[in-house]
Amino acid sequence: MAAEPVGLKRACVVGGTGFVASLLVKLLLEKGYAVNTTVRDPDNQKKISHLLALESLGNLKIFRADLTDEASFDAPVAGCDLVFHVATPVNFASEDPENDMIKPAIQGVANVLKACAKAGTVKRVILTSSAAAVSINQLNGTGLVMDERHWSDIEFLSTAKPPTWGYPVSKTLAEKAAWKIAEENNIDLITVIPSLMTGPTLTEDTPSSIGLATSLITGNEFLINAMKGMQMLSGSISITHVEDVCRAHIFVAEKESASGRYICSAVNTSVPELAKFLNKRYPQYKIPTDFEGFPSKPKLTISSEKLIKEGFSFKYGIEEIYDQTVAYLKDKGILEN
Ligand SMILES: NC(=O)c1ccc[n+]([C@@H]2O[C@H](COP(=O)([O-])OP(=O)(O)OC[C@H]3O[C@@H](n4cnc5c(N)ncnc54)[C@H](OP(=O)(O)O)[C@@H]3O)[C@@H](O)[C@H]2O)c1
Ligand SMILES: *[C@@H]1O[C@H](CO)[C@@H](O)[C@H](O)[C@H]1NC(C)=O
Ligand SMILES: *[C@@H]1O[C@H](CO)[C@@H](O)[C@H](O)[C@H]1NC(C)=O
Ligand SMILES: *[C@@H]1O[C@H](CO)[C@@H](O)[C@H](O)[C@H]1NC(C)=O
Repeated sequence: MAAEPVGLKRACVVGGTGFVASLLVKLLLEKGYAVNTTVRDPDNQKKISHLLALESLGNLKIFRADLTDEASFDAPVAGCDLVFHVATPVNFASEDPENDMIKPAIQGVANVLKACAKAGTVKRVILTSSAAAVSINQLNGTGLVMDERHWSDIEFLSTAKPPTWGYPVSKTLAEKAAWKIAEENNIDLITVIPSLMTGPTLTEDTPSSIGLATSLITGNEFLINAMKGMQMLSGSISITHVEDVCRAHIFVAEKESASGRYICSAVNTSVPELAKFLNKRYPQYKIPTDFEGFPSKPKLTISSEKLIKEGFSFKYGIEEIYDQTVAYLKDKGILEN
């Protein structure tokens, strides 16, 4: 058997069809990693066409795996140095969040981590968590700063059941389960905790988070209300360019000294403040700025200080995040002029 090139780094990305994972696969290939990625349905051409297009960048293999199927991760994870667990069940409209999001997310974390322990080659696992696992609480006031010590209030979420409660509960419980399983199995785990992401996507369909982040521009009333709901529940509108989140995943994977949780969020704002910014920058879209009675100061900010102290720097601020997203929407024909 021919020897592998010395120093070849191997990574597995769980959930290659997604907004974040597809860009992560691309950045890893560009850095010279050999990549195994998993998808639920490799026969779905529409969902994997962007991955097939990445095969020309390097060594990429696509595997079939489902978060609820323990054995399905053995083959793609075998022989890997790094595993990025990005996939998560997302269904905001679910009538049964327990079975649609919470259980499969926890099961997925357990199945992926068990495959990593079994492989014996995996040096580090990077799990994509969410600001939704950190900032949701019943604290009152303004100027609160949330960092890696904070966890969302599961007790409150599962008793009050505010709209979309199942998602933050699934992200919080999945991350907590990951820490427990990693400890039991002596796995070097790191979690990346992004805020709402936008930016251009490689995927055929437009991810729901881009729709949400651009609702003020497109004028989608339902999503503008969802964004207000997000500010009320999570305490702020915090936004990050998807590429910075992928860069942060690779940064903490490669940085020897990294450990624990890392919040990755570029911009802290609120719906009224964001609307003001967008209205000024893109006057052609007639973005509403009158949000009478709605708090223009976010209740809290989520701090990326730990990640920055580790040596990471964000490439994109609010202007570039939105300029690139608007260019993407025009390209797609979703926005005119
Ligand atoms: N987007 C954001 O603004 C944001 C913010 C904070 C955190 N995050 C986190 O970032 C990660 C990626 O999010 P995203 O925006 O890229 O989401 P996405 O585009 O909706 O991708 C979700 C991925 O999970 C996969 N998946 C769902 N259920 C699965 C199952 N049972 N088995 C295997 N795969 C399954 C999906 O595969 P299919 O294609 O087969 O459905 C898809 O590839 C998630 O962990 C999310 O919680 C996202
Ligand atoms: C991908 O999976 C194959 C088959 O299990 C394994 O030999 C290889 O080491 C894995 N990793 C990469 C990045 O190729
Ligand atoms: C915050 O205010 C709400 C509504 O007034 C109240 O129900 C809740 O108990 C307060 N929380 C704390 C921690 O004081
Ligand atoms: C967001 O808030 C945190 C905590 O106050 C602060 O450290 C950080 O600089 C803020 N980020 C931006 C982009 O304003």
